[in-house]
Amino acid sequence: MPNSRILLVVGVTVLVVVLGLLGQTLWELHRTPTSAERGTPLIGGAFTLTDHTGRARSDTDFRGRHMLVYFGYSFCPDVCGTELLAITQAVEHLGPAGDKVALLFITIDPERDTKERLAEYVAEFHPRLVGLTGTAEAIRAVAKAYRVFYKRGDAAGGDADYLMDHSTAIYFMDREGKFLTHFPFQTPPEKMAQTIKRYL
Ligand code: NI
Repeated sequence: MPNSRILLVVGVTVLVVVLGLLGQTLWELHRTPTSAERGTPLIGGAFTLTDHTGRARSDTDFRGRHMLVYFGYSFCPDVCGTELLAITQAVEHLGPAGDKVALLFITIDPERDTKERLAEYVAEFHPRLVGLTGTAEAIRAVAKAYRVFYKRGDAAGGDADYLMDHSTAIYFMDREGKFLTHFPFQTPPEKMAQTIKRYL
């Protein structure tokens, strides 16, 4: 009876697929959770941007060194300057060990933060501070990877005079570009240096 034989084959196939899916689900439930699943926030990721000297820079260029990463914009009236100054002071507290930490300032206002503008801005803070800009898409992608929020705000004067709302945390990443911790706005530089030292 060919019909019942076909039914048997179909039945066995369905059973095998169902058991396979069940097995996979059970394995998923019992395997060791990854760090992301354990609650370490999944922050950071790949990027390709342009630095303040016009050089293409990607996240992999900084492998082997820890990174302090801050997102902001050079026209920021207050917060960004305060935070970049704090980074500079924290690195100074670290002394020679601070040389092992790459310092990254990623603009969330690529429209106005050209590489020339960034070159002037980063020079106000630290000789090793790397200013990074890119296309609107590239900036959006890296901000998303770092869970950074930003939004164009009101224009105070003319159209070119707008403010940007943005997150203000400083991210501290390990030698593989993985998230270690973050420093909330107004963390004292000495405290930042103490925390960083523990990881170096
Ligand atoms: Ni700012």
